[in-house]
Amino acid sequence: MKKTFFLCALSISPLLMSAPAQAEETREAVRLNEQQHDWVLEYMRRMLETVSDMQGHLATGNTEKVAEQATSVRSFARNTKPRGIGKQFPAGFKSMARQMNASWTELATPTDDAAQISATTQKLLNSCNACHRVYYLPPVTPGGALIE
Ligand code: HEC
Repeated sequence: MKKTFFLCALSISPLLMSAPAQAEETREAVRLNEQQHDWVLEYMRRMLETVSDMQGHLATGNTEKVAEQATSVRSFARNTKPRGIGKQFPAGFKSMARQMNASWTELATPTDDAAQISATTQKLLNSCNACHRVYYLPPVTPGGALIE
């Protein structure tokens, strides 16, 4: 056991040594005020929690719960979105959000076809991943000023 650990530590150490302290940000910034920034992150966390819950319901064959949860995350977005936030989003960001929403809408439509739900969930997650690769939110100070 000890020997295995030692060998593993040895084999990853060159990787650790060559890793930069912090990778340089190459993604495009989406500039938001504090309220918008907090809302986006809250929405994101809810979406991840929803996907996780949906997987649980799918595993237990509770397909109608999947549609309920997808409907609920869509309502959260519609009902709580800060006014004017859309103007802050770059065109590419909006288009990826639209693509993602199409998958949420599909998931919100009740079906007992588990394979279809899985396929749509993968399409949904591909939209999440695509956007995360391209955009980031720079931090904001409490007063709303952007930290460069
Ligand atoms: C249109 C763009 C876009 C889409 C689509 C998108 N996200 Fe995000 N998400 C972001 C951005 C931008 C951030 C901030 C990342 C950063 O600054 O590094 C983020 C952050 C997050 C975070 C971190 C939240 C926190 O508290 O820091 C989670 C979790 C997350 N997203 C989940 C998801 C999930 C799940 C989906 C798909 C169901 C999704 N996102 C779809 C843009 C998007």
